[in-house]
This record gives sequence, structure tokens and C-alpha cells, in this order.
Amino acid sequence: MVIAHLIDNALKYSPPVSAISVRARTGENKVIISVIDQGAGIMEPEQSRIFEKFYRGSKDQNLKGTGMGLAIAREIIRAHGEEIWVTSKAGEGSEFCFSLPIAPRSSNE
Ligand SMILES: Nc1ncnc2c1ncn2[C@@H]1O[C@H](COP(=O)(O)OP(=O)(O)OP(=O)(O)O)[C@@H](O)[C@H]1O
Ligand SMILES: [Mg+2]
Repeated sequence: MVIAHLIDNALKYSPPVSAISVRARTGENKVIISVIDQGAGIMEPEQSRIFEKFYRGSKDQNLKGTGMGLAIAREIIRAHGEEIWVTSKAGEGSEFCFSLPIAPRSSNE
């Protein structure tokens, strides 16, 4: 659900022809998934607010949405004890990352 929502946002807030990448890497006992776009980006003061319930970017009021997508994504990730965050530069694009714990190997593996 979280990956689907991040891709949905990447498509919604980027020009139709621009590339969207999905990457995965391993951290210490966790996997980090990122969705990267080359869209409008998010201004610094808004970056901390976009994960709040019902918060929508001021320039995006003309696009349909409820402002709940990232709030739900954050609740899902926090329920696993992990975090979701964004790195973005206005005019260049955004990278949304989230981590998930790697399940310990069971002893009979
Ligand atoms: N990839 C992105 N690039 C630029 N801005 C983004 C991106 N993803 C989210 N945002 C900004 O964060 C705001 C909140 O995103 P969120 O997904 O929570 O809500 P939404 O997309 O507006 O509505 P919905 O509830 O339908 O997902 C958006 O309104 C937009 O301003
Ligand atoms: Mg959304």
C-alpha cells in the first residue's frame, strides 16, 4: 500500500514524460525502499507538514486529493516501528524513503 501510494503521488506531481524510479537497499536489520521522481519537488517549509492528516500542498489545490495518503502511509510504517521521510528540492524532484524491519531467520533455515 505504501509503495503504491508513493508511486501514485510521483505520477500525480510530475510531468507525464518524466522518469520515476523505485529502489531498494539494505540497512542494518532493515530494508529501505525509495520512490524518486523528477517532479515539482516540495519546498522546505512544507516538507515537515505533508505527512499530517488532510495537509495538501498550497499549489496542488487544483488536483484532486484528500491529503490523507501520506498520513496513512506514515501510520502503516510506524506500526512496524519504522519511519518514512522525504528529501526534496523545489523544481528538481523528490525522493520518498521508508524503512521496514527484516524478519529474523527462523532457526530451521
Ligand atoms: N511526489 C511528490 N511531489 C511533490 N509534492 C508531493 C509529492 N507527494 C506528495 N506531495 C505533496 O504532499 C501533499 C500531501 O500528499 P498526500 O499524498 O498526503 O495527499 P494528496 O496526494 O494531496 O491526496 P490523497 O489523499 O488523494 O493522496 C500533496 O498535496 C502534495 O502537495
Ligand atoms: Mg497522495
